[in-house]
Amino acid sequence: VRLGVLLSGRGSNFINIADSIERGELRGCEIALVLSNIADAPGLAAARERGLPAVAQPSRGVPREEHDRAMLAHLQQHGVEYVILAGYMRVLTPEFLRTFPQRVLNIHPSLLPSFPGLHAQQQALEYGVKVAGCTVHFVDDAVDHGVIVMQRLVRVRENDTVERLSARILQQEHRLYPEAIARVLSGRYEVRGRQYLPK
Ligand code: GRF
Repeated sequence: VRLGVLLSGRGSNFINIADSIERGELRGCEIALVLSNIADAPGLAAARERGLPAVAQPSRGVPREEHDRAMLAHLQQHGVEYVILAGYMRVLTPEFLRTFPQRVLNIHPSLLPSFPGLHAQQQALEYGVKVAGCTVHFVDDAVDHGVIVMQRLVRVRENDTVERLSARILQQEHRLYPEAIARVLSGRYEVRGRQYLPK
């Protein structure tokens, strides 16, 4: 299975997924393309260092539809079958999502549906929750909203800081994302309404 990874930043989730594939933990899949809307994203540089196809398609000042069409063209040229969002900071157009129905995954650093959007870890801390975590979900056209595949929880500690909580959540993200990808790629599931049902 050919994966396309979309990222905008440091790319630790991408690196972690690439490591999992190298260790043989994600059988039968490969990263066909790493694609970023930010030309100097560290994650893109990391992809190049690994010898993976890495392409920048800058988004600044470009209408969303036009940008997503260019992104789709790259993905199709590289024969991508599943799209993995790994810190990709843009909302995808309906056209993009129609092209990859139930084939776009995202990871978000909160227990959705709590705290969608930016700075989820800070939102959680400020709200005063005692349990935080991360979520892998299919992407639909609302932000951080599609069908949930898997979640992991992280306990909030007394005197926690955004940095420390974020670091502990990120550790769990790195365990969660490859596992969730493997589950989806296995095809042994069914989606009924909002329910992801393993078979
Ligand atoms: C992660 O916290 C992820 O949950 C969120 O963006 C961050 C990306 O981090 N969607 P990285 O670029 O993978 O290190």
